[in-house]
Amino acid sequence: MTQTELQTMAESFSDFDIAAIRRDFPVLNQEVNGHPLAYLDNAASSQKPVQVIEAVDAFYRHDNANIHRGVHKLSQRATDAYEGARSKVRDFMGAKSDKEIVFVRGATEAINLVAQSFVRPQIKPGDEILISHTEHHANIVPWQMVCEQTGAKLKVIPMTQSGELDLSGLDDLLNERTKILALGHVSNALGTVNPIKDMITKAKAKSIPVLIDGAQAVPHLQVDVQDLDCDFYVFSGHKMFAPTGIGALYGRQELLEAMPPYQGGGDMILAVSFSHTEYNTLPYKFEAGTPHIAGAVGLGAAVDYMQSLGIDKLAAYEHHLLEIATAELEALDGVSIIGTAKDKASVLSFMIEDVHPHDIGTIFDQQGVAIRAGHHCAQPVMEFYGIAATARASFAFYNTEQEVAALVDAIKNTQEMFA
Ligand code: ALA
Repeated sequence: MTQTELQTMAESFSDFDIAAIRRDFPVLNQEVNGHPLAYLDNAASSQKPVQVIEAVDAFYRHDNANIHRGVHKLSQRATDAYEGARSKVRDFMGAKSDKEIVFVRGATEAINLVAQSFVRPQIKPGDEILISHTEHHANIVPWQMVCEQTGAKLKVIPMTQSGELDLSGLDDLLNERTKILALGHVSNALGTVNPIKDMITKAKAKSIPVLIDGAQAVPHLQVDVQDLDCDFYVFSGHKMFAPTGIGALYGRQELLEAMPPYQGGGDMILAVSFSHTEYNTLPYKFEAGTPHIAGAVGLGAAVDYMQSLGIDKLAAYEHHLLEIATAELEALDGVSIIGTAKDKASVLSFMIEDVHPHDIGTIFDQQGVAIRAGHHCAQPVMEFYGIAATARASFAFYNTEQEVAALVDAIKNTQEMFA
């Protein structure tokens, strides 16, 4: 970044009240192993603000009942809360209609849903599914399963040493056999922000549908599915300050209309007899069984919370943390950063010479610094670099410069222990 860009970025979050924000996250205010907790494992799961905790608490204290079917007051209030959350998610995603927002358990379930309900019925032996080398397992395995079920082929956009996608062969990879392009917005292992808008444009020019795995993007970036012009966009609530077990699938309405249900059961039907079942309208056709109602309420509260802070502002602040952490690590001997793309969000994967990443994670924990060590469910990325694992620090907008300093101290202490 140039000095001017750094200056502009700093100005964009100058009124960011980090102390007030941290008061919203009670879990951050604790010591771990005698040190103030520095929670730097946000790419795995984020912490929850009181606004989310209280929304879930209030739902269970005052409104809890099953939805859609009840004639009594509590059921009506629960239905309003659940459907209200759907509208908030629709607004958050920039979708046209609530019918395009399906509540799911998380990004993984959403990808499996699209793989089985959209792709599998129309794909033939010899057809292709295109993903990239930097995908999370959740955006690899569901497609491998469809390939096994149908005889289709999995094709992979290669990556470069910096952790960016090598797009030199993209025009050939997007061809008449390609039945879907399924692409991560932000790499969970490397932090690379992929140029999805350009890639979507290229795919759409050849009428190839596109699914974007936004699990690592929505906590950090403003997303607008209409502007992106993707067909599906999926994410998990727990990475964006909402409860676990809830997430959303955005799907273009005409595609969702044409797709068969993913699971059968209650709520996804209009009428059932032994000879025939009439499926429900969107989005209920894809929400079989009693959903995670309180989770959806929490997700709606998380959307409100992020929007009240200003997503652009929190993105700029996080970027600032990433920049200073990157500079600090680059200056350390014996430390190498894995993933050095130009455009990155919030993830810093690294290695310390002669120390196994799992030892790094354990030693950091003794110093109150919570990071993740492992393959991050992206084993092909590890294989590309010829390593089994990395240590990974990942930032959220409630992290501080002091926590970046704690990370750097933890690295130095680890190096001293192993010297
Ligand atoms: N997908 C999660 C991560 O990146 C678990 O850590």
